[in-house]
Amino acid sequence: MNRHILVTGGAGYIGSHICKSLARAGYVPVTLDNLCNGNPWSVRWGPMVKADIADPFTLAEMIGQYRIESVVHCAAYAYVGESMRDPGKYFENNVARSIRMLETLIENGVRQLVFSSSCAVYGIPEELPIRENVPTRPVNPYGESKLFIEKALDWYARARGLRSVSLRYFNAAGADPGGEIGEWHDPETHLIPLAISAALGEREQFEIFGTDYPTPDGTAVRDYSHVSDLADAHVLAVQRLESGGANDIFNLGAGAGHSVQDIVAAIERVCRVRVQAKVGVRRSGDPAVLYASPERARSVLGWRPVHSDLETIIRSAFDWQLQCRDDKGLRYSRD
Ligand code: UFG
Repeated sequence: MNRHILVTGGAGYIGSHICKSLARAGYVPVTLDNLCNGNPWSVRWGPMVKADIADPFTLAEMIGQYRIESVVHCAAYAYVGESMRDPGKYFENNVARSIRMLETLIENGVRQLVFSSSCAVYGIPEELPIRENVPTRPVNPYGESKLFIEKALDWYARARGLRSVSLRYFNAAGADPGGEIGEWHDPETHLIPLAISAALGEREQFEIFGTDYPTPDGTAVRDYSHVSDLADAHVLAVQRLESGGANDIFNLGAGAGHSVQDIVAAIERVCRVRVQAKVGVRRSGDPAVLYASPERARSVLGWRPVHSDLETIIRSAFDWQLQCRDDKGLRYSRD
């Protein structure tokens, strides 16, 4: 078995945690990242090449040099709101460049791929918890771009022998329990880091996007999973492909719904802080309630989330933000 795994987007938030999980399982993650959103400081468990996924020469060279047989494909734009304003950017990067990458992988003998997909493929779900076989009807170009690649992967399996596992993430949150890496987006748009930074006084206020949803407290409900648990599922997916597994799709979510108010209350309780929250209007494209049935990931992949209770997620996110605030070197080392 070849121990080198190519990870596109390995310098990103989820990608870097995947690299750490792969390394713990005995693989050497080889990162390919153009650093448009990634952070070089988060690449710590293997080499990195700065290049685009659609650069066939670099990709072919990496596959040859490291004798790559499996790829974890995370590189993508992932801002839902931005995708509503600029769909072309998402279709060009997440779809067109991914297809060019798939062609290069196949031409160079790669036949196994784990794909970072999203619960955004479901749109407004017809039933809860969401199982993998419910209809997929994305309500934003980001979700559409992920669904397109899932579908393309089905055809690539039939026509070109590329086997894949698509992992539909629900809300990735928290930070590496060892404190080595964590969430760092610019701009930051995610609930937990924004609410924590408001509590730490780094921003004046935090806004709750809508209190008129048909949910018990009126705020939107999501399924928050610890990023290290999500990362571990990629190791299981790689191993499944290595042992001959066929194309498959799994939800990765802890299986519990928490409202925005629940999250704010949990931050205040766990971190002993006060979150100044202002009520705002709904954010366009946000479904009211999303939470997964992680049953297939449990029974077929053997995935067992161990860090995804709300307290552990929030504590690790909070510790990470404190560390970033104190560690100026980390901040200034960003490209
Ligand atoms: N929210 C606020 N205030 C904020 C930020 C978020 O109230 O300042 C709310 C959102 O409206 C939403 C919830 O908190 O109800 C979670 O929002 P995030 O932005 O943290 O996460 P999303 O659910 O919007 O996004 C996640 C992934 C995306 C994926 C999407 C699918 O990060 O990649 O789920 O719905 F596409």
